[in-house]
Amino acid sequence: MCLPSGTTPAGIYAEMSRSVRAGLASFQRARVFVLDEFGGLSPDDPGSSRQMLRRQLIDAVDLPSAAFHFLDPGDSDVVRHCRDYDAAIADAFDLVLLGIGLNGHLGMNEPGSPMDGSTRRVELHGATIQSSARYFTHQNLPHWGLTVGLKTILESKEVWLLANGAAKAEIIQQTVRGDISASNPASLLRRHPDCSLFVDADAGALLDNAGH
Ligand code: PGA
Repeated sequence: MCLPSGTTPAGIYAEMSRSVRAGLASFQRARVFVLDEFGGLSPDDPGSSRQMLRRQLIDAVDLPSAAFHFLDPGDSDVVRHCRDYDAAIADAFDLVLLGIGLNGHLGMNEPGSPMDGSTRRVELHGATIQSSARYFTHQNLPHWGLTVGLKTILESKEVWLLANGAAKAEIIQQTVRGDISASNPASLLRRHPDCSLFVDADAGALLDNAGH
């Protein structure tokens, strides 16, 4: 599976950890790939995707350490690094969990990202850089990153798109009711055969009950 870090999935990860502790679930036969990673940080920066996901889930479950795959923007050859990441993913993911950016980004696939994009280096949009400030205790905000591409996300067997809070209400409405367009990458998920959208009451506040 491919998993994001960040605020949105925290509750799901807490439940997954509880299920493993209670003996109801196990990650022993799972493989986990981090969805994206900020560039220009030290590898142990607590705000990096890898460290956040470690704290939120990986350290609390029985995933074998070799089955935790993460992106390393510090690699001297990021092109090869991304190619190797895609090779390690090999087959389609069984499941991708996604948050949504205020501009509809998925992972670090900002508006305008190619639908056939694979894992690669990307520049972050200004709003994304500002919004990432809450993950960090320093002012050195990343302006680029590495991300799994839309092609891999769209090829996943199953996708869960998650959104919490009033700030996401507008982009959720556009994603569900607006045009399917690369200018809102999340809208492309409407073409996916097995994508579920999970919203809390605030994030879903602008959706009416008709259709979908
Ligand atoms: P968040 O980030 O879960 O911290 O709101 C989502 C995103 O920007 O992709």
